[in-house]
Amino acid sequence: MTNNSDKCKIACERNDLQHHILSTLINYFRTARMARADNATLQMILGEILAYYELHQQNEEQLMKDISFPDFESHKKNHDIHNLDFIKKIQGVEKGDYAYEDFDEYLSKWIVEHITHEDALLRKYLKQLQNH
Ligand SMILES: [Fe+2]
Ligand SMILES: [Fe+2]
Repeated sequence: MTNNSDKCKIACERNDLQHHILSTLINYFRTARMARADNATLQMILGEILAYYELHQQNEEQLMKDISFPDFESHKKNHDIHNLDFIKKIQGVEKGDYAYEDFDEYLSKWIVEHITHEDALLRKYLKQLQNH
């Protein structure tokens, strides 16, 4: 196995792990909500999801730059749109315009759709690099 191949393998595993952590955080939010956690707790968990999501975006965008991923611009745009939307919803729930229970579907849908579409293309590209 070449050095580059090793790097791609680790990058792919790291990306998968970060997606897994994001899913775990989202499940944690759902569990807390169903256990009727107070608003301050739910807000704190959403803040942690946002912070981890932003960290993940930065890592993923750096990875795309490092490997000259062809769809970098559109993928980054997609991250930015999700990010702004998520922040708007978090602010909305503080103001009472958005309900905590609406986050369950929103977060699951967002993560599943982005990971299975945009991130899957990145994963495929990484796998191709790994095998060369
Ligand atoms: Fe992504
Ligand atoms: Fe991702």
